[in-house]
Amino acid sequence: MDHSIAARIAILGGTGPQGRGIGYRLARAGYAVVLGSRDQARGTEVAAELAALPGASAGTLCGTTNRAAVQAADVVVVAVPYDGHAALLTELAGDLAGKLVVDCVNPLGFDKLGPFGLAVEAGSAAEEAAALLPDSTVTGAFHHLAAPLLLDPDIDLSHEDVLVCGDDRAAKERVIRLAEAVTGGRGLDAGRLRLARQLEPLTAVLISVNKRYRTRAGVALTGLFDLPQEESA
Ligand SMILES: NC(=O)c1ccc[n+]([C@@H]2O[C@H](COP(=O)([O-])OP(=O)(O)OC[C@H]3O[C@@H](n4cnc5c(N)ncnc54)[C@H](OP(=O)(O)O)[C@@H]3O)[C@@H](O)[C@H]2O)c1
Repeated sequence: MDHSIAARIAILGGTGPQGRGIGYRLARAGYAVVLGSRDQARGTEVAAELAALPGASAGTLCGTTNRAAVQAADVVVVAVPYDGHAALLTELAGDLAGKLVVDCVNPLGFDKLGPFGLAVEAGSAAEEAAALLPDSTVTGAFHHLAAPLLLDPDIDLSHEDVLVCGDDRAAKERVIRLAEAVTGGRGLDAGRLRLARQLEPLTAVLISVNKRYRTRAGVALTGLFDLPQEESA
């Protein structure tokens, strides 16, 4: 799989807040984005709404079904609720073969004590995706970016780090470039795909902090060198 070629990006569940937010930021950075939906009309409608936002346009954003979106792209962001994750990936496994998959799904539960990470048989949603998609290259990223911030054209997200996990180094490098496009800040190689077991439930901590301090907390690591320009270009 050649990860060096710039490609169209599909977003499964692209009509939801997270899919819309990532799609908008990627389109604004100049990527061609296809929002996928279970309903073609909803995909088209949401894409038209996003295309009207500052910096986006109908030339960089369109919407369709999840399957058609995958077929039109070679990078696919998975932004559906964990409940529908396994079924959708199973359904689209053939179309996803040979593609780079970026899973941002956080399997979370909520009870009277607040948010918590769900136990996932495969270890994490990203590992579940890898097991269901043996012919795709699966990475995890974008777990900690808050959708309302992504969707707000005036919010600068360059102070947030996007932690990328995966077992294919070239794929991770490519996702790091996408992360930089989404936030204008850093994408960081956080290690192997199995570390999604730590990254996904960390979102429960962020939600808890958000509730306590009435904010939208993100993730930023300290102690890292500033990435040289030529490496992050
Ligand atoms: N919201 C955030 O701030 C945030 C931040 C980080 C990560 N995430 C993760 O990103 C994912 C999406 O979050 P979200 O808030 O955008 O979720 P959402 O609004 O609940 O769902 C996103 C979209 O997924 C589709 N969908 C819903 N149920 C589905 C099912 N059973 N099977 C297939 N598709 C289904 C819907 O699109 P159609 O009806 O058009 O098909 C929906 O618009 C979640 O896994 C979440 O953990 C969210």
